[in-house]
Amino acid sequence: MNIRCEASPDYPKIAEVITSAFGQPNEAQLVEVIRNSENYIPELSLVAEIDGNIVGHVLFSYIHVVSNEILSVLALAPVAVLPQFQNQGIGTALIQYGLEKADELGEALVIVLGHPSFYSRFGFVQSTYYGIKSPFELQAEVFMVKPLKNYEIKYTGDVIYPQVFNNV
Ligand SMILES: CC(C)(COP(=O)(O)OP(=O)(O)OC[C@H]1O[C@@H](n2cnc3c(N)ncnc32)[C@H](O)[C@@H]1OP(=O)(O)O)[C@@H](O)C(=O)NCCC(=O)NCCS
Repeated sequence: MNIRCEASPDYPKIAEVITSAFGQPNEAQLVEVIRNSENYIPELSLVAEIDGNIVGHVLFSYIHVVSNEILSVLALAPVAVLPQFQNQGIGTALIQYGLEKADELGEALVIVLGHPSFYSRFGFVQSTYYGIKSPFELQAEVFMVKPLKNYEIKYTGDVIYPQVFNNV
């Protein structure tokens, strides 16, 4: 398996992979909208390839934490692996690679909404431990954060997602 940054010729195949993984087009559309926004980070839209075919994708993009100031942090979403390639470590490898890259880029914090049993293995913990509040009415355990090397105590407050996230 090879992990690399996405390139524009990959976009249709990435959309197929995401749509197939989620069984609906919403998450692939989210990726397209983010690509065309200021929240897009080209180095953090990653594909996993096997024999030259894209089988997985993960996107980290900017969202905000707001307290006294508006701070940029990363949202990990979506992550998708083709159904026939799931449970072979590809999703884990994509996320791990992305987290390391985000650290290298000097980002401070990553936020994810998902299953604690899956994301805790990467070091994600419930966001409330860091004083970070979800904008969604959800069980607290599913809204998680992972501080990176550049994390500072100032990263507390309310999380604001771009409007497009409300469509998924
Ligand atoms: C979630 C997903 C990206 C994981 O990728 P993967 O390559 O199958 O995962 P890995 O092989 O690296 O890891 C497997 C682990 O993920 C868990 N897992 C699989 N799908 C999961 C899901 N939807 N939610 C939580 N955990 C999941 C498995 O139970 C397994 O756990 P274990 O290691 O304790 O047995 C992939 O299953 C997928 O594309 N699912 C559909 C889309 C989705 O739900 N994306 C996540 C929300 S953004």
